[in-house]
This record gives sequence, structure tokens and C-alpha cells, in this order.
Amino acid sequence: MNKKKVIIIIIVISFIILSISGILLFDYINNKEDTNKSNTNISNVESLQKLGYSKESIEQLEKLDILDKVLKNEYSKTLDVALSSNKFKSEYLDLYLNVEYLDKEDFIDKINALNDKGYTIEEINFILSKINYEDITYILESNYIENIKDYLNIENMDIQKLRRYIDYYNNNSSKDLRSVINYVNMDMDKTPYVDYKTVEDPNNILVLVNKYNKLADDYKPDDLERINTNYSVRNLYLRKEAKEAFEALCRDASSLGLSIRAISSYRTFDYQKGLYDNYVSVNGVEEADTYSARPGFSEHETGLATDVMGSNGNYTRFAETNEYTWVVNNAHNYGFIIRYPKDKENITKYMFESWHLRYVGKDAATYMYENNLCLEEYLASKLK
Ligand code: DAL
Ligand code: ZN
Repeated sequence: MNKKKVIIIIIVISFIILSISGILLFDYINNKEDTNKSNTNISNVESLQKLGYSKESIEQLEKLDILDKVLKNEYSKTLDVALSSNKFKSEYLDLYLNVEYLDKEDFIDKINALNDKGYTIEEINFILSKINYEDITYILESNYIENIKDYLNIENMDIQKLRRYIDYYNNNSSKDLRSVINYVNMDMDKTPYVDYKTVEDPNNILVLVNKYNKLADDYKPDDLERINTNYSVRNLYLRKEAKEAFEALCRDASSLGLSIRAISSYRTFDYQKGLYDNYVSVNGVEEADTYSARPGFSEHETGLATDVMGSNGNYTRFAETNEYTWVVNNAHNYGFIIRYPKDKENITKYMFESWHLRYVGKDAATYMYENNLCLEEYLASKLK
């Protein structure tokens, strides 16, 4: 054997030895890692069992390789239930870890759905704490509602009307949520004269008669009294309490040199019908509806409303008189309000009528005056 051959053999043998050692070393390190890992897994599994997770849940977590992550948190019943159901979504792990469990059959479905809509964990917990579980359906009917917490914080919010609040909110320039809720609570978002109710308590001094609330066709107040003819242009009637208050108002105005007189007060259904039909024949339905109530829908039929004129003798220009200025500032002291104010047309659904006074009693009138509310707003704010 020559020297060259010997060297080649030595090199080959060394190469073989080195390769074998490399393989052995690699195997050794790998095995060690596996053992470490399985030791860690064993202790993680035990810890999760101790926390209270079910066997099935732990198996799932093991498969997903998220034992560590879950162990960094306290036990979550929500996660446990989600894992053992077929509703678990791995990308919603944080949701299950942080939403307090409620013992409801479709709980995981519901929170998944809220999360799908875009609600944050904080919002979901808030929703669950604020409303009846069954009412979550009303939230799920809509796309993500950015200000859901604001809605749920308003005490007279009715969750069943949520869809209507949102529609009204989106379609109106007024972005004040409280007003939106009040309007919808009063059914003001519905179609006038179509979705109306019949008034149940027509004798109530605070009765609401408008395009959504109709008096029975045969309603007639039983305490009508004639207004002193010093303060009316002909024989006109109001209910006793309203009549006495109106006379006091006219008397005090008169002592200041102001002349306020009733020109149209209580009207029967038939009288209102004649008026309205006439307006329609002259101006058409659309225009007539802006200033005249349809029969049954006029508060003149309650005996609590009167139209007035001042010293210029023209009720349509009452707003230009000193009497009007005085009425604006003082009528509440006698229990009257200007029923169809200038800035409330979208609520009253009538044009501004400076001349139409409505008796509601001193307390309510003063509250409305001080808070710049029309009757609809006042009543809605008192509603749940
Ligand atoms: N002008 C009011 C709205 C009425 O007709 O009753
Ligand atoms: Zn009137």
C-alpha cells in the first residue's frame, strides 16, 4: 500500500466518523428538546386541569398548541364551554378569555356574532351587563353600532326600538341621541295619520293630540264653558280650567294695555272636518296638512286650545304684536304654551303658529318654557 492510498483511507474513515458523530449529536439534542417539551406539556396539562378546564378542552388546546397562552390567564368558563362546543374560533381566543360566562344555550354563538359584527370585548361585556340576554337579538339586527354604549346608557331607551332609533338618527340633522330616543318613543318617526293610536285619556289636561294620536270621533269634553266675551270675538268655549286660566291671562294683559282675544277655541269633530276639507279644496292635501289638523286629530277638539289675535286684528300676524312678545314670556304663568313653535316643526309636524295656545297647567307649561320643550318632547322625556 502506498502512502497516498493510506492518506485517502484515513480521510474517508475520518469523514465517516465525523458524520456518525454529527448525526448522533443532532438526535441527542432533538430528543432532549422533545423531552423538555413533553415535560412542559405534561405540567401545563396538569395546571389547566387544576384550573378547571375539561379534558376535551385541554385536548383541543394541546392540538392548537396554545396551552401556554391560556395558562397565562385565569380560568375562563366561556373558553371552556367554547372549546368543548363546535363553536370555538381560534382567532377569538381573547374574546373567550375575557367575556364573562352566562349560562345560556347559544351563548358562544351570540358572542361570536357580536365579535363578527365588530364589537370589542369591552363593548360585548358592556352589552351583556346592560340588557336582557334575549334582547341581544335587537343589536344583532343591525350592523356595528359605533355608539352602542351611548344608546344603552340612556335610561328611557327601549331596546326593541333600536332599529328605529338608528334609522331616525341617520336620517336627521339632529344628532342628539336623547332627542332621537324621545322622538321615536313618541312614534314621531312613523307615518303621520297612518300609524296612529286612539287617545285613551282625552280628559287629561296633558293629553297629546297630534298626527299620531287621534281623539275618538264622538269625544266631547263635559266641562266646556263659554269664554267671557270681553276676551273672545264671539261665543267660544274652553274646558273650565283652561277657560279660567285664559281669562286671567287676557285680564292681566289688558291691565298692561294689551288686547288678547280668542278667535277659535273648542271645535267639534264635524266643525274641524268642515275646516280641513275647505283648506284641502283650496290648497290641496299636502299644504293643508302643514297648518290644519284632520278631523279627530285637532287639539281644538279637546277644549284645551284656543287661537288668539292681538291688537293688529290679524291672527296670522300675531307674531308681530306686543301681545305676542308678552305671551311668549308670560303665558306659562297661566298654564299655556305656544303649541307649535318655530323651531319644532319637525316634531309637531305643523308650521309655526304664533296664535295657537294650548292649556297644559302651570307646572308643565313652566317646565316646557324653561327647558325650551314642545309638548311632544316634554311628554317623551317623562316616558320610560
Ligand atoms: N291648526 C291646528 C294644527 C289645528 O288645526 O288643530
Ligand atoms: Zn289653533
